[in-house]
Amino acid sequence: MTDCIIEISGLTKMYKSKAAVRNLDLRVYRGEIVGIIGRNGAGKSTLLKMIGGLVYPTSGELHFFNRAAAGDQSFFERMGVLIEHPGLYPNISAYENLKLLAIAYGLSDRELTVGKLLKLVGLDPKNTAKVKSYSLGMKQRLGIAVALLGSPDVLILDEPMNGLDPQGIVEIRQLILELNAAGLTILISSHILEELSKIATKYAIIHQGEFAEVISKEELQQRCEERIELETEEAREVLPVLERELNVTKYKVVDSRTVYIYDRHVHIRQIVKVLSQQGIMIDSIARHKQSLEQYFLERTESAGERHD
Ligand SMILES: Nc1ncnc2c1ncn2[C@@H]1O[C@H](COP(=O)(O)OP(=O)(O)OP(=O)(O)O)[C@@H](O)[C@H]1O
Ligand SMILES: [Mg+2]
Repeated sequence: MTDCIIEISGLTKMYKSKAAVRNLDLRVYRGEIVGIIGRNGAGKSTLLKMIGGLVYPTSGELHFFNRAAAGDQSFFERMGVLIEHPGLYPNISAYENLKLLAIAYGLSDRELTVGKLLKLVGLDPKNTAKVKSYSLGMKQRLGIAVALLGSPDVLILDEPMNGLDPQGIVEIRQLILELNAAGLTILISSHILEELSKIATKYAIIHQGEFAEVISKEELQQRCEERIELETEEAREVLPVLERELNVTKYKVVDSRTVYIYDRHVHIRQIVKVLSQQGIMIDSIARHKQSLEQYFLERTESAGERHD
């Protein structure tokens, strides 16, 4: 994945003297699903609006497809955007809504496009029910169909799972994965890390307008994986013993005194036993398990709240 399609550097948006987001740097590669995670007011929508061309940055740069976006509106046409409520007419059907928008966009083959899009997002093109009778989940699907109307390369979804029930969340997640498999690069925000945990390939944690961390899916999984944390005088002495006596194979040497052990079959008391038999002293040993939500909360605590 070397194809960087969005590059943000030093992106800042001021509202009067207050920064909504400040100095954001991010690269998005083709095919990624980037999760923007932050509490209420963290700056998620402001960031996505700037990328989608709905809000102008106060300073900083946006590059799309390796070219500066400033002054070139055509780049924004390659983005499909669902931010806040899509402007839908409540008293007509989903099909009629999309068709009106397709006319406004000047699309050819409107009937075909609209029918295909509705099917793609899991709505029945023949359903004549008025949109106002739709469930929240159906409205979100329709919103995604609207965002897809201009055949974008990038889909920007601001909290599309907000307010959905667990089943609705699973369905939207599935839809996003399908769209990604069909070639779309996706930016999606949420205030619940767990919600995005099964789909995002990269996470940008935003806190008070700044990125607290940008982390890959693999790195996050590893950090939250259940493990035994072992501290001894000399980590190098410990490993051959653990490999030989307990068949430990999944571990990570964190520093010269600390080892993390990920093998599920190993128990703390077995480690204590074999190491003491070898005369190796243990300074501390404990099982560590951190949920995704805990991980997120720790990184988005305000100054003074921090306890690590
Ligand atoms: N148009 C505006 N005028 C003034 N301040 C704004 C404007 N839009 C956003 N802000 C401020 O910028 C900050 C970031 O807002 P933003 O809506 O981007 O956060 P968010 O992460 O999307 O929050 P939420 O989870 O509530 O949607 C907030 O302090 C907000 O009050
Ligand atoms: Mg928002």
